[in-house]
Formats: sequence, structure tokens, C-alpha cells
Amino acid sequence: MAPSMTSIRTSGDNIEIVDQLLLPHIVKWVPVETPDDAFDAIKSMKIRGAPAIASLAALSVARELSLALAASPQPEWLSSASALSAHVSPVLDHLFTSRPTAVNLSQAIKRIRAVLALTKAQGWTGAEAAEAVITESRAVADEDVGRNKEMSRVGAEWLLAQLEANGTIQPGESINVLTVCNTGSLATSGYGTALGLITHLWEIGRLGRAFYTQSAPYHQGTRLTALELLTLGVPSTMLCDTMVGSLMQHYKVHAVAVGADRVAKNGDTANKIGTYNAAVLAKRHGIPFLVVAPCSTLDPATPSGEQIPIEHRPPLEAVLARGVEYPLTIEAGVEPKQVVVQIAPPNISLEGIYNPSFDVTPAELITAVVTEKGVAHNPTGAQAIDLSSVL
Ligand code: MRU
Repeated sequence: MAPSMTSIRTSGDNIEIVDQLLLPHIVKWVPVETPDDAFDAIKSMKIRGAPAIASLAALSVARELSLALAASPQPEWLSSASALSAHVSPVLDHLFTSRPTAVNLSQAIKRIRAVLALTKAQGWTGAEAAEAVITESRAVADEDVGRNKEMSRVGAEWLLAQLEANGTIQPGESINVLTVCNTGSLATSGYGTALGLITHLWEIGRLGRAFYTQSAPYHQGTRLTALELLTLGVPSTMLCDTMVGSLMQHYKVHAVAVGADRVAKNGDTANKIGTYNAAVLAKRHGIPFLVVAPCSTLDPATPSGEQIPIEHRPPLEAVLARGVEYPLTIEAGVEPKQVVVQIAPPNISLEGIYNPSFDVTPAELITAVVTEKGVAHNPTGAQAIDLSSVL
């Protein structure tokens, strides 16, 4: 795989995603031809990461409309903006249900709905309305890379300045940063959020080492973050989710940087399961804890973490591991075969398995929320973070 990874590639109206269930051993691009395909890919986690799923959902809508415009005869639902809206609305409703915690998807859907509503209210033709929806949908995906680079730069500079100002590091010294899950190119349309910040530190010569957790049960860390950091050549160390406390006791960790699936109005943040544990331990060790996310992950309509819907994945997923047979022998021209193994006893009851995909880190444990618009600092560990400057 090329050094610069991507989760989605497009060529004209064609969309392909890299099947993240098969990474890192098998790189398989799969076509996404319809919004239903996008739904299935998101639900099954062939694509994951809050910004990436929003991009794919939006691009799948754009593709459907673009193909319809080119068709002869055009479908009846292109006869007016009103008919278009009636056709697209249930498609959006369906996409919305694919994964409930990541708010980026619902923000993208809101943007598309707003265009549908406007074009309908103004009586646009079906073709004009479809063009407007396509433009807006493609913008959801296109805007992502630039803002990721911006928040990564802003967050890295801010963090280094803080650590220098409080004497944790000397000017110019490199830092070690711990992250959770995968928030890099594979989780976004490119560069990444928290992993983008780490990448930026590396690019400017200020990263000592990246630490990352396995992020069981899906192993976004072991499989995806490992792949990205190895590909970029970033010095990195993986640890099991249970080892964060030990790491902080025995190694210098200057900061924790994580992504987010949803940041509530008061700064409470939903992210990959295990993030809360890392935040509690960071507090205990006096380590700054940064949430790095685009504005589209901020959700002022949700007052606090208590109201964030937390997705529970199928219980079975918590007792499965994916990989290739050990030891891995790579033969030229032979693609490794993935095996999925069950770790728990065969008669384990599915009701006996707890498998939330995300947890909520309370704002008081978060030192700063970094977006492309700047940094909302929480220097005193207040119970709510004022996000107004970064919205
Ligand atoms: O279940 P996943 O893999 O979609 O969870 C992903 C995360 O929790 C990420 O940290 C979050 O979506 C931000 S990705 C830039």
C-alpha cells in the first residue's frame, strides 16, 4: 500500500473502499454502487471512523443522483425538486441508522436535507436540485483532508507551547503521545485527526514516539493504526488496552490525543471504548488529554454525554479475533487468507457479553478540544468546556 493511505477512492462516479475488516494483511478494494452498499459497508465496519463513514454515505448519495441525471430516460423522481426530496429522504433515513454514535454522519445528512428543503421550497427543477445535492454531498468528503491538516497543526503547536510554558519539556524537545483506536487516513478522508496531530509532530521533528492501544475487540489499533504508523515510518509502540496505567507509570507520556465520535455541548466526548480509561489514568498522572476532531463532530444539540446514543455492537464480535494464521508466511503472489477465531468457550451465552463500541469521557477529564477552528482549553478541569470559540 502506498505511504499515503486512503479509505475511499473515487473516479468519476465510481466509489471504492478498502475493506478495513481485512487490513492489514489483505488490501481489497470493494465497489460501493448504491446507498444500500454504503449502509452495509458502514454497518459491517468495512469502513469506520466518524468522518470516513459520513464521507462514504454522502458520496453514495451523490453517485446515485449523478447516475440518474445521466440516465435516459431519467427516473420519475427527477421530475421536480419535490419528487427528488421524496426519493432521497428515505435513503437518508436509512443511512442515518447505520451507526448511531458518530454524529458526523447525521451532520452530513442534515446538510443534504437542508439542500433538499431549499430547492423544494424554491421550486427548482429536479435536475437543478440534484446538481445542488451532488455538490453538497461531495463537499462533505472533500472538506475533510484540509481541515484535518489544520487541526493537526493547530493542536500540535498548542500542545508543544503548553508543555514548554509549564516546563514539562525544553524548547525544541520531542514528545511522546499516546492514542486510542484509529483516527488516521483510514478513519477519515485523509491525514487524520488525533493521528494527524501525531503525524504532524513527526513531520516537524517533534515526535519522540507514538504509543497506541490495541483497541479490542475490533483492534483498530493493532490492525489499522499499526499499519498507518509503520507505513509512515513513525516510531511507535503498541500496547494492550489494559497496559495504559503501566505505561504511564514506567514511560514518559507527554500527552494523550484521541479522536471523537461526538462531542456534546458541555465537552463530554464519546469515543472508542477504552478512551475513558485512558482519560482517568491521564488525570491521575497529570498528563494532558486532548480531543482532536472536526467541527462536524461537535454536537451542540446534545447537552451532555448522558444523551449521546452509545452503539452496542453484536455480542459475538467481542469474542472474535481476525487475523492470519501464525506464523505468517508470505509467498510471492499468494494472498494471505484471513481467519476469524472465537476466543471464548463455544457455549458462552451471548447475553453474557457486554460490548459497547464507545464510552463517554466527561469534560472534566479533557484538557482541550482541538478543531480546525482552534483550541477550547479546559485548564482547571471544569465540568463543562466552552466550545463556542471552536464551533
Ligand atoms: O468503531 P470505529 O472504529 O468507527 O470507532 C472510531 C473511533 O472511535 C474514532 O476515534 C473516531 O471515529 C474518530 S476517527 C477520526
